[in-house]
Amino acid sequence: MSQQKELVRISNLKKHFPMKKSSIFSKEQLYVKANDGITLSIREGETFGLVGESGCGKSTLGRVLLQLYPQTQGNTVYYGKSIYEVKPAYVTTILKKLNANVTKYKKALSASQEHLEDENHKTHDEEKKNFNVLARLAGGLMFSSDLSAVSKILLEQYTIGCKVAELYVKSNGEISSEIKTLEVQMDEIASRIATMKQSLSNEADFERAEAEYDTGLDLTLLSKSELRLLRQDIQIIFQDPYSSLNPKLTVGQIISEALTAHNVYPKGSHELEDYVLSIMDKCGLDKYFLHRYSHQFSGGQRQRIGIARALALKPKFIVCDEAVSALDVSIQSQIINLLQDLKEQENLTYLFITHDLSVVKYISDRIGVMYLGNMVELANSEDIFKNPAHPYTQALMNAIPTTDINNRELHILEGDIPSPINPPKGCKFHTRCEFACDVCKQVNPRWREIEDGHFVACHKTDPEMSENF
Ligand SMILES: Nc1ncnc2c1ncn2[C@@H]1O[C@H](COP(=O)(O)OP(=O)(O)OP(=O)(O)O)[C@@H](O)[C@H]1O
Ligand code: SF4
Ligand SMILES: [Mg+2]
Repeated sequence: MSQQKELVRISNLKKHFPMKKSSIFSKEQLYVKANDGITLSIREGETFGLVGESGCGKSTLGRVLLQLYPQTQGNTVYYGKSIYEVKPAYVTTILKKLNANVTKYKKALSASQEHLEDENHKTHDEEKKNFNVLARLAGGLMFSSDLSAVSKILLEQYTIGCKVAELYVKSNGEISSEIKTLEVQMDEIASRIATMKQSLSNEADFERAEAEYDTGLDLTLLSKSELRLLRQDIQIIFQDPYSSLNPKLTVGQIISEALTAHNVYPKGSHELEDYVLSIMDKCGLDKYFLHRYSHQFSGGQRQRIGIARALALKPKFIVCDEAVSALDVSIQSQIINLLQDLKEQENLTYLFITHDLSVVKYISDRIGVMYLGNMVELANSEDIFKNPAHPYTQALMNAIPTTDINNRELHILEGDIPSPINPPKGCKFHTRCEFACDVCKQVNPRWREIEDGHFVACHKTDPEMSENF
């Protein structure tokens, strides 16, 4: 499993919603810290289940990941398309900045980024973000004494790479002689870069900087039109099949809307109708639904329409936000089976958000447990059910009734969930944890791998903290 390719990597993701001030005289701006520093990778072809009590920030994470909400802090990097295919403007802007601000970046480098980590006012964050993106684009080349030359060669590589990707799409995958010529140039640039890196490999921090090298797409830096391009790849299925479908459109129109908007097929064409019918067939929707309105159907059928709509653009990644929660239990299993079949057929990756632990156990390869805006435990599905390590996960598992099929949702644990506006200091779970000790009230537990692929944030599982328990 750990060999699987990453599809999405989020690092230190924060989403803080500003609250309305209670009076014009109140000075302090308060924030709902819905996501408060989440780091996580989603692998190609997996179903990643996300669980946690109501209000812990699951939906916010799903929406921020799609950039439906701009994130307050952190990176979200997508690997399903290369930077050459999407051609984001930020790459050129940042590489040119490297050229213009050589001294500044040198200074930042020699301070090992630490001075960029210690404060959190805005300009500082902006600077840190630019530095991080640059470190990803340049890797070990950041140590070159000639950063102007680095900027030049990386810009050259980027320009030619984008040209190759563009020609490849235009020629429908044919390798034309023009592409071949450009590929020779790309090889030549790659070998010049390799030589430059070779000469820097003795620098003390070269390996660390080289490990940062990453050509994924930083979704947080994409413009609106670039994000629109990416919407084809990343889709969402919402919880409520009643309100998420436009009642004024027929089923055919709902499914084809995005296809015509992205110029995949011309509006009203036979190809479009044939394609929509083939997607409907995959999702178990009869042909005659095509010209009917969504309100004429049951919840399960509407959810199939929502799935067909999400699938139409041949996405790679789908966020399923409580996609079956509003349905009857018998319909739930039909829709889950459909999602599983489609995943196999279309090689999809899911982020499956739910508060139903039985569903998540059945469908997920790995599971992440969230509490008050943070991930507290992450492991493969079997491990987390057999060997939950975080006291919060343990309490959730103990709360699953095994016999009552109609009552499988997360039970509210003892004690109130603290406010995400002013969460408890130290471990956020300490106000409800039976094992909490003094250190838990002061120090935020670190995120540690306790076994292969099993991560937990709890002092009790940390050998360095054992004397406190
Ligand atoms: N647009 C918004 N503006 C302000 N606060 C918001 C917004 N969306 C969510 N929140 C707050 O952020 C926190 C997390 O909400 P979110 O909807 O992500 O939780 P959830 O885990 O999906 O809950 P549920 O299981 O009930 O769907 C909550 O305190 C919620 O009130
Ligand atoms: S860090 Fe302390 S309070 Fe938090 S879950 Fe672990 S034992 Fe409980
Ligand atoms: Mg939600």
